[in-house]
Amino acid sequence: MQRMKIIGTGSYLPDLVVTNQMMASVVETSDEWITSRTGISQRHLSSGEPTWFMAVEAARKGMEAAGVLTEAIDVIIVTTCTPDYYLPSTACIVQAELGASKAICFDLNAACSGFVYALDMAARYLQDLSIEHVLIIASENVSKLVDYGDRSICVLFGDGAGAVVCARAGQEDDSALLATQLGSEGQNGQVLVSRALKISHPFLADGAVWPDRFGSHEDHTLTMEGQEVFKFAVRVLADSVLETVAKAGVDLAQLRYIIPHQANERISDAAARRMKAEPEQIISRIADLGNTSSASIPLCLDELIRSGRLDRGDMVAICGFGAGLTYGAALFVY
Ligand code: UT7
Repeated sequence: MQRMKIIGTGSYLPDLVVTNQMMASVVETSDEWITSRTGISQRHLSSGEPTWFMAVEAARKGMEAAGVLTEAIDVIIVTTCTPDYYLPSTACIVQAELGASKAICFDLNAACSGFVYALDMAARYLQDLSIEHVLIIASENVSKLVDYGDRSICVLFGDGAGAVVCARAGQEDDSALLATQLGSEGQNGQVLVSRALKISHPFLADGAVWPDRFGSHEDHTLTMEGQEVFKFAVRVLADSVLETVAKAGVDLAQLRYIIPHQANERISDAAARRMKAEPEQIISRIADLGNTSSASIPLCLDELIRSGRLDRGDMVAICGFGAGLTYGAALFVY
């Protein structure tokens, strides 16, 4: 158990809402197919705003809710697999925009599991008594990676950002990170791929560039073996949540909420059945937001807190899964 408390959350969603009907105007699909196979009705897509901008907006709201001044932030972690630049990191741009001059800043790419990895990391930083506040922001413009001619992918994803400010919990607080269970299965990386820049310089011999490791697209657009990801997701979602619960020595029924990464309503439903969770424990915003990669869990968390549905002392499990392959669950008392 680590004494950590979430003291503020924030989020940002672009104004542009793309409905399933709108999707049907660019690819051969239907509202009926998308809702019945995924649970998604609409998604927000960037109206032009970059990943860093969404991160800053979510962070500002999170810090306002936390009542923390920018100078008090010691670490900024941005989780993103859709940055605007290779260099500098999105976290450094956020630092500059916020004026959080003393923070150390870096990006973390664990794909859709990024937020869970970052929460685990924040708790470890907070064991160091010189660190008081860690700002985690998950910001994703997944639309940048999507081929809007590929109906099996383009209907799934949305853009947005969620932020969480973490601090060390006081002796009087019940708040704590009770357990985490992270994992990676790099041997199955080919099921979800987006390619980066290729090697290209004037001294390269003809044909010297190695073939693509994964059989992915020539450009950066996503390739996905949907059913393989689906099976992986159901397995790791259920098992990692159950492992955190077992590690913490609590019963699943004691959890007020389980927030799965929002990828497909059918994944969440199947995992809930596998772990024998009650439907009302499972949080879903998939209908309105689609899959926003690492932003999906903090977007749910922020909505729960702002709508007054999460109380101090409530126990919550979160679980991410995605490209890598990576997965991770965290169990905490809010
Ligand atoms: O963050 C993690 C990221 N990824 C995921 O979580 C994805 C996990 N996988 C899934 O959610 C599901 O596998 C999908 C939603 C991607 C696909 O659902 P499915 O039930 O596994 O469908 P399928 O791939 O087996 O395709 C069934 C049919 C195919 O047609 P045929 O070959 O049976 O004639 C597809 O071409 O559905 C077709 N199809 C579509 N039809 C209408 C695929 N996409 C669409 C579409 N609209 N958008």
